[in-house]
Amino acid sequence: MLIPVILSGGSGSRLWPESRSQYPKQFLPLTGSESMIQSTVGRLAGLSDCAPLMVICNEDHRFIVAEQLRAAGQDYASIILEPSARNTAPALAIAALRALSNHSDEDPVLLVLAADHDIRNVDEFQKVVSKAIPAANDGQLVTFGIVPTKPETGYGYIKAVQDSGIHGGCTYSVGAFVEKPDEATAVEYIDSGAYYWNSGMFLLKASRYLEELEKFRPDILTSCRQAMSDATVDLDFVRPDKSAFESCPSDSIDYAVMENTADAVVIPLDAGWSDVGSWSSLWEITGKDDQGNVVNGDVMLEDCHNNYIRSSRKLIAAVGVDDLVIVDTDDAVLVTSKNRSQDVKRIVERLIQSQ
Ligand code: GDD
Ligand code: MG
Repeated sequence: MLIPVILSGGSGSRLWPESRSQYPKQFLPLTGSESMIQSTVGRLAGLSDCAPLMVICNEDHRFIVAEQLRAAGQDYASIILEPSARNTAPALAIAALRALSNHSDEDPVLLVLAADHDIRNVDEFQKVVSKAIPAANDGQLVTFGIVPTKPETGYGYIKAVQDSGIHGGCTYSVGAFVEKPDEATAVEYIDSGAYYWNSGMFLLKASRYLEELEKFRPDILTSCRQAMSDATVDLDFVRPDKSAFESCPSDSIDYAVMENTADAVVIPLDAGWSDVGSWSSLWEITGKDDQGNVVNGDVMLEDCHNNYIRSSRKLIAAVGVDDLVIVDTDDAVLVTSKNRSQDVKRIVERLIQSQ
């Protein structure tokens, strides 16, 4: 049995001012008419032996998640509500504990997905997931590797060493997993041609994740076990115990488990994957006019090239500018050059500090 687990607790700060802590990017229709979480669940239709999904999100977003899943016609098993964010390692731990207690007769395979990725070729995505299932059933922690195109420092890098020769030869052993290397290391990895980007999606047995977490971060597992044994359930909403969960150290799956485990494998994924992490990555994946501009809303341009311009209400007019991001919302306007759009999060940090 396959249980999709959707991690939806991120704040999407680099997509400010559209993405806000009360309404972050996974709930916005940034790449089409559906929100990113709706596209994520839509991509599961037709996967075989797929049980109803689980979402792990912040308590504050419970009604948005429930409403968006309902609007997408999506059946879900539970929505687990975190009282505050502790990053993805605890989020997946509480999902794995819940999956095992709901299905005590079997050890389900979890398809761990981010709520905010774009995947263009859904058929290929599903084919690769299906091919990876034997490896997960065998106890491997499967990562999905993307052929890198630039020395991006916001991703994990996976060194694929040799065809493991099992599971139909479709997976490679992981020689090294390095989360978010510095720029010089990322350049080295790209030049070597031996590395994939970690897509941030995983396929693994619930029990194997917990075993590996116990090995490398027993402190996280102890807090999560406590939080789930004292959890309360209110219809579809599951609330881990607040004080136990808040006592849990914060860490990501990547640092806590994937960098340390000896049982990771990688399966290449070539399905038009993109982490819609910033305005410039949104520009990259969106259809452009013949001057390379992506425009949304009421926009007039004169001799402008390769810009991302988005207006919610006002007319935005621009003359003779290239490679900019301009995003206008009701209460804020962002102007940045495309190659600095990662740094929008610094503005958000300052706004949070000034509150
Ligand atoms: N429930 C929950 N709680 N979800 C969370 C939390 C949390 O505290 N923090 C993040 N998430 C969700 C985000 O909403 C997103 O869907 C997913 O988990 C991944 O978190 P990110 O914060 O976006 O991770 P990242 O982009 O820095 O890095 C990960 O993804 C990269 C690819 O996009 C890593 O897996 C990298 O190795 C990978 O390359
Ligand atoms: Mg991300």
